[in-house]
Amino acid sequence: RVKPSRIVDLQQHRDERGCISIAESRWTAGFPIRRVYFLHEVTDGASRGGHAHRELEQLFIAAHGGFTLRLDDGFHQAEHRLDTPGTALYVGPMVWRDLSDFSPDGVCLVLASHHYDEADYYREYEEFLRDSRRQT
Ligand code: TYD
Repeated sequence: RVKPSRIVDLQQHRDERGCISIAESRWTAGFPIRRVYFLHEVTDGASRGGHAHRELEQLFIAAHGGFTLRLDDGFHQAEHRLDTPGTALYVGPMVWRDLSDFSPDGVCLVLASHHYDEADYYREYEEFLRDSRRQT
């Protein structure tokens, strides 16, 4: 199991008009949601991610369609297919992630704990690996 990561069920309300899925800082994410972004119009066959974060916590949601998230904490690897809006994936600090295999029109919604900060990124896998193994 890759730490820190976990599946989180969103609160959902469905009626004859359709469905609403809800993520709240306190109950769902477990961190203050300071930034929201989404990946869309992903080129067929393209991969996204390819980095880790020092501090950032995130919740990944397949708002439409699906995609595959591969996680690596420096010791263990895991693969998750997200393809239902009610099931999110929490990913914490020091986890390398790759996103791939987007379905056509797939939308990856991301709720993040901090504003964008390039200094928080590991863009080099070797550097990430060195630091993740040093920390434990
Ligand atoms: P990046 O995080 O590498 O993308 P992904 O994980 O989706 O593959 O970001 C792609 C580009 O967008 C990069 O130039 C940084 C920029 N960016 C921002 O300016 N602000 C943001 O909040 C995010 C997520 C990215």
